[in-house]
Amino acid sequence: MRLPFGIEKLDSALGGGLDRDTVNLITGRSGIGKTILAAHWAAQGAKDGRTVVYIATTIGRKSCESYLGKMKFMEDVYHKINWRFVRIEAKYLLPLTPEKLEESTVSTIGMKPSEVDMIIFDSITDMDKALADPVLYRLALRYLSRLCYKNDITALFVEEAPMKGEWSETKNIAESVIFLDLLRVPEGYQRALRILKKYRTAHPLEFIPFEITDEGIKIKEGRYIRKDYEFVFRGEE
Ligand SMILES: Nc1ncnc2c1ncn2[C@@H]1O[C@H](COP(=O)(O)OP(=O)(O)O)[C@@H](O)[C@H]1O
Ligand SMILES: [Mg+2]
Repeated sequence: MRLPFGIEKLDSALGGGLDRDTVNLITGRSGIGKTILAAHWAAQGAKDGRTVVYIATTIGRKSCESYLGKMKFMEDVYHKINWRFVRIEAKYLLPLTPEKLEESTVSTIGMKPSEVDMIIFDSITDMDKALADPVLYRLALRYLSRLCYKNDITALFVEEAPMKGEWSETKNIAESVIFLDLLRVPEGYQRALRILKKYRTAHPLEFIPFEITDEGIKIKEGRYIRKDYEFVFRGEE
C-alpha cells in the first residue's frame, strides 16, 4: 500500500508513493520547497479520506492559511487536515524518555494516535535545536518513529539540511529519503529533487527538476546528472 503525493511523476518515480506504516524524510536547505512538498502529501491523504495531522513548527496558523491554504492543491482539503501549530521547547522533551516524548506528541496531536493515518513533522530540526545534542536528537527520533510504527501511522519528517558540515542521522532511520536541492546549471539555478533511498523500490538515481508555482510543485521534463565523472566502464580483457 502506497500513499501518494498527488504529483504524478514523483509518485511514479517512488513506485506509487510512500509505503504505508513507514517513516520517511524530506531534507534540503531552507526555502527549497520542503514544506510545499510535505503539504502536497498531506492534501492528497486528506483527499483520499485519510486522517492527516500536520505538526508545523516553522509557520503560524495565519501565515499557513494564507500561504499553503491558497495553493491550488489545497483547494477543498485545507480544513480537512488537522493542523497543529506548536513551538518546541526543551522542557516538553526533557528528561528524554519514550514516555515523555510520547506524552508530549500525543497531547500535540490532540486525538488518539491509533486514529491517525498520516503525520507530518515540519520540521524536526526544531526538535534538534531544542535538544541541542545529537545523541538525544537521535533517540528522540527513534522514540517518535516507534510511536508511529506502534499505531500504524505513516510518518513524514521534514528536516533542514545543514549549509555545511555533517548531516544528521535521520536519513538512516527513514525508509525513504527525498533530498531537495538547488543545482547550478548553464542557465542559472534549477530546483531539483533526488530520491536518496526508498526501500523495496527501484527508483531513479538522477536529479529530477521541478518548479514551484501557485499550483504547487510541478515536475519538469528530463533529469539532471553531474557533468563530471570519476569512473568509466572497461569490460573484460
Ligand atoms: N506561489 C509561489 N510561486 C512561486 N514560488 C513560490 C510560491 N510560493 C513559494 N514559492 C517558493 O517556495 C519557497 C519556499 O518553499 P517551502 O516549501 O516553504 O521551503 P522550505 O524548504 O524552507 O520548507 C519560496 O522561497 C519560494 O522560492
Ligand atoms: Mg519549511
